[in-house]
Amino acid sequence: MHNPKARSILVIGETPADVAYMQARLKGFGCRVSTAFAGPGAARKAVEEKALALFIGVDTDITTIAAAVHAERGRIPVIAFGRAGNPQAAAKSIARGAVEFVGIPADDAFLRAVLDAAVPEPGQFLHRDPKSSRIVNLAHRVAASDVPLLIIGETGTGKEVLAHEVHRVSKRRDGPFISINCAAIPDTLLESELFGYEKGAFTGATQRRIGKFEEANGGTLLLDEIGEMELRLQAKLLRALQERQIDRIGTNQSVSVDIRILATTNRDLEVEVKAGRFREDLFYRLNVINIVLPPLRERTGDIPVLVDFFLSKYADIAPFGRCTLGEDAQEKLMSYNWPGNVRELENTIYRAALLASGPVVTANEVILTSEQKTYYQALLESSTPLSSPQPSTWHSAVVPQPGAAPPSAYAANVAAAKGFAQPDATPPVASLAPEEDPDDPSGSATIGTFVGQTIAAVEQELILATLDRCLGNRTQAAHILGISIQTLRNKLDRYGA
Ligand SMILES: Nc1ncnc2c1ncn2[C@@H]1O[C@H](COP(=O)(O)OP(=O)(O)OP(=O)(O)O)[C@@H](O)[C@H]1O
Ligand SMILES: [Mg+2]
Repeated sequence: MHNPKARSILVIGETPADVAYMQARLKGFGCRVSTAFAGPGAARKAVEEKALALFIGVDTDITTIAAAVHAERGRIPVIAFGRAGNPQAAAKSIARGAVEFVGIPADDAFLRAVLDAAVPEPGQFLHRDPKSSRIVNLAHRVAASDVPLLIIGETGTGKEVLAHEVHRVSKRRDGPFISINCAAIPDTLLESELFGYEKGAFTGATQRRIGKFEEANGGTLLLDEIGEMELRLQAKLLRALQERQIDRIGTNQSVSVDIRILATTNRDLEVEVKAGRFREDLFYRLNVINIVLPPLRERTGDIPVLVDFFLSKYADIAPFGRCTLGEDAQEKLMSYNWPGNVRELENTIYRAALLASGPVVTANEVILTSEQKTYYQALLESSTPLSSPQPSTWHSAVVPQPGAAPPSAYAANVAAAKGFAQPDATPPVASLAPEEDPDDPSGSATIGTFVGQTIAAVEQELILATLDRCLGNRTQAAHILGISIQTLRNKLDRYGA
């Protein structure tokens, strides 16, 4: 099956056996793999193939191939491979420009870690802290089977991202990943969302509708915030899980479904069971294996890699493009307790990227959620204008490409995060930000024009631009802005938007 989103990799080696081995292993991770043999045409093929990473046999001329590729296509990650247990070969290949050496036969977890670091997939669970690495390893082990998994953690810890990670590395990876938020949908609607309905099942059911269970057939269904589901629906859910069959509302004809169930909760379900609010049998059904995702303050080692990712993610809307953090800013982030966890960190970095007065973000420009009010007040009182960007800095911005591999500055960071040799700091797969365009509706170049405006006007502009970015999704916009949906609604009403 051809997956257009599959990561494309080129394998170059000396012998058919080695090339076939590496090709098969990478295909096993869902990659699209093309191959070439060492020789005069290898460098040309490497340039033309447009792969996201190169796996090159250790006896091949890595230097020449890497130089040809880097000259024409930027710094594409090169990974060397060869017989395991040969430290000299490993050292030699790293010295010649490879970011990592994979010994064959290759260990599954190691090969995946190398691949994910070199070519991160969208939605990957980023981590560096040893606590998180252990969790990700467990999630990967569990992913191989179809057992249900319950992910427990405070809000914003990345439960949904971890659930997606399980799907991503499972054998269902080419099937759908469907998520339903049990807290966000009223009970009456949740049943039809989950199970679907037949035409005429109730007033307004003018045609048959497929539910999430059927939509997820062949893939994974994430029951997000399962602790919020009402007891009656829990009974129906239990039956569906036990029998792997569902009944659409309005019919008693069962439909078989082949799905893997994942669930998340930020409530203690054992307490809920004791209080009679959650069915014990459903709890045991879902809780075959559980993973507790610790709050961010207990795995601060993840902060640098997450920050780098978010800085790249927001580079195109930041006046100074891809910023870095000054030492004082890093310290500030490391010592805060992050009650809103990764989501709050993301909002904070988004704000910092917008407010930065230069390419290096200072601690003063990192406005924690609790400091927001004071910051805006101080700005008003001091009438210190927000600085306008130097146009020339726009040209060095690294723009993340939605759906494509993130910029390689990020890849390099992930590589570093996993203890890999850090490749050259030059961003390899970077594209340049466009020239400042006054007609650009994205609002990306507007901060310079804020100078001289009131805070209220700037706020309105920021809110509307964020909403625009989020394609009108108010929940998402409120999250990014760090305000409640109600506050956002009130402000929009005031603007007449
Ligand atoms: N490890 C991670 N790598 C990359 N992004 C992450 C990671 N963890 C969290 N995020 C980002 O942080 C935000 C919150 O993550 P997510 O929605 O998974 O949290 P959650 O635990 O499900 O929160 P809630 O309980 O509020 O639903 C998302 O924007 C997500 O992309
Ligand atoms: Mg969630």
